[in-house]
Amino acid sequence: MKNKFYITTPIYYPSDKLHIGNTYTTVVSDAIARYKRMRGFDVMFLTGTDEHGEKLQKVAAKHGLKPIEYIDGIVASIKELWQLMDIKYDRFIRTTDDYHVESVQKIFKQLYDQGDIYLGAYEGLYCTDCEAFWTETQAVGGNCPDCGRPVHPAKEEAYFFRMSKYADRLIEYIESHPGFIEPESRKNEMINNFLKPGLQDLCISRTSFDWGIPVPINEKHVIYVWIDALSNYITALGYGNGKYNDMDYWPADVQVIGKDILRFHTIYWPIMLMALGLPLPKKVYGHGWLLIDGGKMSKSKGNVVDPVVLSKYFGVDAIRYYLLSEISIGQDGLYNNEIFINRINSDLANDLGNLLSRTTAMIIKYFGGVIPEKGAATAFDGALEAFAAETVKKYADHMDAYRVSDATADVMALVSRANKYIDETAPWVLAKDEAKKGELASVMYHLADSLRIVAALFSPFMPKSSEKIAEDLGLSEIPAWDGLFGADIAGLTVKKSEALFPRIDADKVLPALEAEAAAKKAAAEGRKPQEHKPQVTIDDFGKLEIRAAEVLTCEKIEKSDKLYKLTVDDGEGKRQIVSGIAAYYKPEELIGKKVAVIVNLAPAKLRGVESDGMILASDDGKSVKVVFLDGSVENGSIIR
Ligand code: ME8
Ligand code: MG
Repeated sequence: MKNKFYITTPIYYPSDKLHIGNTYTTVVSDAIARYKRMRGFDVMFLTGTDEHGEKLQKVAAKHGLKPIEYIDGIVASIKELWQLMDIKYDRFIRTTDDYHVESVQKIFKQLYDQGDIYLGAYEGLYCTDCEAFWTETQAVGGNCPDCGRPVHPAKEEAYFFRMSKYADRLIEYIESHPGFIEPESRKNEMINNFLKPGLQDLCISRTSFDWGIPVPINEKHVIYVWIDALSNYITALGYGNGKYNDMDYWPADVQVIGKDILRFHTIYWPIMLMALGLPLPKKVYGHGWLLIDGGKMSKSKGNVVDPVVLSKYFGVDAIRYYLLSEISIGQDGLYNNEIFINRINSDLANDLGNLLSRTTAMIIKYFGGVIPEKGAATAFDGALEAFAAETVKKYADHMDAYRVSDATADVMALVSRANKYIDETAPWVLAKDEAKKGELASVMYHLADSLRIVAALFSPFMPKSSEKIAEDLGLSEIPAWDGLFGADIAGLTVKKSEALFPRIDADKVLPALEAEAAAKKAAAEGRKPQEHKPQVTIDDFGKLEIRAAEVLTCEKIEKSDKLYKLTVDDGEGKRQIVSGIAAYYKPEELIGKKVAVIVNLAPAKLRGVESDGMILASDDGKSVKVVFLDGSVENGSIIR
């Protein structure tokens, strides 16, 4: 029987579409899950959505919808996003799912019956957006320490979880299980800042809103988010319900979360589990924040980067690679389009893409497209083989410790090493000498074999591109882990590779990205988004002849509300123009004024009236305003 491996992401709030920060957590978890499947584990990869609470109720109301109507829409977009990002989850839990609701009520009842939950009153400073109570010292300056919005005093009858009862047991557990909280630095913070000073009991119900799971013994209350949310990790396996029967995946091998919710996952969650008599997860991994513009990206701050937009410009695998490689899992990382583009170009287009295209091109050129038998060893083969073996070992160690960015670096190092091997062996020189054909064969074989290993190692990170590499090498699938070494690939027919990762032209893509972001922002604010035209050169602009002209006459065109027939003096004489500005100006507001006219525009007939030029005007989508020139401008002056 296969060993089981259970990995979870947080369940995200469906208050708005997800961003590249949530995507980071999910992509890291997916990479780990895919790696474990490759290593032969029976993997359960869980993700989902955290759908209750006051904030969601308010957001839905703002859109004029019932909470579930609004949330259904967002959840659909989240599932689409995970499909786009190639996230292969095994189960998706929604906290509004009936089986979860049933389990949470059972859990509450059990904890109440055994005396871990009691009725009390809560007083404190409340942040509506974060749904969190804060103490005076935490809410510095009357603002929420998480989102910076004002907090307000609040008091309500509420149920409490007797956390304090379990604090000592938890301290002892954390201290005797060194790998439980990762990164290590956060472990001390949890113990010294939260557990040692004495744990406060946790408020776990609300009466101030009703979008939540009702407290089974008191319908006035709904269960407050954390008890509801945290239990998803076991209800999704069937704990307390008949929907699933998978509790043998528990305890989770790793629960991947952001450091913002580490406290909930390393204090409240373990205590809940202790109270239920269940084992604790083997590891809670709190990764750092993805920062943008110097701050944490977050839905409630609105400074988000949309992965759907990015994917159009860079492709999904490039995004996955960037997230996995740029951000060291225990530290904060920076999201920046320019760094991103540089990395795609240097690592993926240059190093990896070129290795593949050079290798297949040479095999086609020198061996008719068929990977040859190894032939005669070169002086460099041994070093490359040793490097590949070492890479696989390091990669496995890093992945087993969830150090994903280090593992991506391991694979890139092998790619670089293989490129160096091309320089060392100089196959184009070997090819000139018939006596060196055996060595040339060995070089081709070794290059193809290195790429085969790269395809396997990269497959948890860039599934589609890895498949493409394998395909170009003539393999029918990604090589299995157990067959990584000693497979015989001679005789496979390679394909000429198209660019695996086309080079990104930052000068074109950055403005396009900014324009798209601006358009989205405009749409969100109810403004008409600006449509942009392709860049032009100064020569393109120079083709237009624009001159100052004075309006001499202006009259309405019959049966048209929009059009005026005007005559202007363009410095050489009279010129007749038809212009669609009748709705915005009276003739006397135009006559005698200086305007800018395109005089080399091909003549056209509007309503049967000849128009010989165009008057420049601004248009904001609501009204049109003529660009008037200063009265002192000479008729016929060129405008450029
Ligand atoms: O907290 N950088 O949901 P949430 C990196 N529903 N990761 C980020 C990030 C950023 N800028 N922003 C968000 C909740 N994340 C609760 C969780 S679990 C039982 C309940 C990721 O939608 C990171 O994993 O606010 C963080 O922990 C999570 O999204 C928060 O998602
Ligand atoms: Mg949050």
